Amino acid sequence: MKKILAPSLLAGDHGNLGSSLSEVEQDGRQWIHLDLMDGHFVPNLSFGPQTVADLRPHSELFFDVHLMLERPALYIDPFIKAGSELITIHLEPEYDHQSTLNRIRDAGLKTGLAINPDTPVDLFYPYLSQIDLCLCMTVNPGFGGQSFKGYVLDKVKELSKRRGEENHSFLIEVDGGVGPQHVQSCLDAGVDVFVAGTSYYKSSTVERANFARSIGEI
Ligand code: DX5
Ligand code: ZN
Repeated sequence: MKKILAPSLLAGDHGNLGSSLSEVEQDGRQWIHLDLMDGHFVPNLSFGPQTVADLRPHSELFFDVHLMLERPALYIDPFIKAGSELITIHLEPEYDHQSTLNRIRDAGLKTGLAINPDTPVDLFYPYLSQIDLCLCMTVNPGFGGQSFKGYVLDKVKELSKRRGEENHSFLIEVDGGVGPQHVQSCLDAGVDVFVAGTSYYKSSTVERANFARSIGEI
């Protein structure tokens, strides 16, 4: 499985998101993680589809879009039009998960599903053969700068084992409080995509390169 370090733009400069985006590209990263919050599913607001659309022409990075929305089905079309390449929706809110996944896939995008730290991993199981990414949140979503919840890696291990047994191809992503100190335990559990906000934007270019190298991205 390929290994990816995906900086979270939420930790960038909200007065100049374009430069925080190009910083990541100049560092040699391949992905950028974009957090969308609605003030309902999570107790915070971030930015919207217009922000994603305006950032799109300025970057070749792969747009990994994380929708922390109570009703994502209402916003799928604007995020598709905005140039997202992978859209991840949460399984906790009550809506038609399957038809929402179908709309993302039918638009030619990659699909992802996400669960919060205390949500059982088997909620993913009905969808494993059809999705491109499973996101296991390692913090309760809504804010950057929180502490990494290591117990979530038990769910990652289960998911990774099932992926091997059933020959699935989805990537496993962790998000929330991730830093260089967590790389080895995450790799051992089966993580492929490492989202990093605070630990990435607060580090030097050399530290970022070492972080990526330790994951096996470069
Ligand atoms: C939190 C978001 C994360 C967050 C990561 O709800 O989904 O992507 O921005 O930032 P850090 O690495 O600072 O926890
Ligand atoms: Zn996120």
